[in-house]
Amino acid sequence: MITSIRTAVFPVAGRGTRFLPATKAVPKEMLPIVDKPLIQFAVEEALEAGVTRLVFITHSSKRAIEDHFDVDPDLERALEAAGKDEILKTVKAILPKEVSCVFIRQGEPLGLGHAVLCARPAVGNEPFFVHLPDDLIRGDVGCLSQMAEQFRVSGSSVVAVENVPQDKTGSYGIVDVDDADRMKAIVEKPDPAEAPSTLAVVGRYLLTPKVFDLLETTGRGAGGEIQLTDAISDLLGHESVHAYRFQGSRYDCGSKLGYVQATIDAARTDPEIISALQGESLL
Ligand code: UTP
Repeated sequence: MITSIRTAVFPVAGRGTRFLPATKAVPKEMLPIVDKPLIQFAVEEALEAGVTRLVFITHSSKRAIEDHFDVDPDLERALEAAGKDEILKTVKAILPKEVSCVFIRQGEPLGLGHAVLCARPAVGNEPFFVHLPDDLIRGDVGCLSQMAEQFRVSGSSVVAVENVPQDKTGSYGIVDVDDADRMKAIVEKPDPAEAPSTLAVVGRYLLTPKVFDLLETTGRGAGGEIQLTDAISDLLGHESVHAYRFQGSRYDCGSKLGYVQATIDAARTDPEIISALQGESLL
């Protein structure tokens, strides 16, 4: 039985229209929370969970992501010559040497389900994580690590969920679960009046490779896109799927409010920023 998950898929091919004009030339995933881009938070969470292979589903407008995870000998030499040892250490630590990166172009953004299917050749026939970097989750233990632990217990696919206000169900995949949080149904962006619950899927999945077979035949769903939610709904006919209530705070950094909230909370935990703000009487 497989107990460790070695591959994480990061679908980053979306255009990030809610953040235009910032995202016209800069990928949404490169927007920083203080001094660290969202995509680096995502990769760090995956590495903490034991992942050694990172698969990015990307687009021609997202080259900066590839550059971010590449080595930059000129920059490293310049930092070394300037004696900026701490920053040099931070830059060198972006990606451990034993971790490999695969970049796959989605071509046309046909939806999250299609993006995940594009990862099939790199993932192969084993369970894998899907991580949406604009859902930032912070806590003592990374969300993917928590899900990997759940997978060791149940051996089935795991989807992270949290309760959302009833009037927000139309923005999420919403699940119906039994007493043991096994998923009974999942529906994409239901009207509040028709939602089976207020338990919403957030941007973390641990999926068995069976989902690839199902995605091959998943047609266009909500919004005319090939939805991962629809393939997970089909998966329920073959395997059990666990709806996992993670520990931690989630910030929807694809929205302006969530992004600002994440930035404020991160700044609050940075001693240098706090003391500077207090010195300026801004706190
Ligand atoms: P979003 O719904 O947040 O779309 O996609 P978006 O394009 O990133 O942002 P907005 O809504 O236009 O502001 C959820 C995740 O799925 C990826 C996105 O990159 C994001 O991580 N995605 C979506 C793809 O990789 N390909 C797609 O075809 C669609």
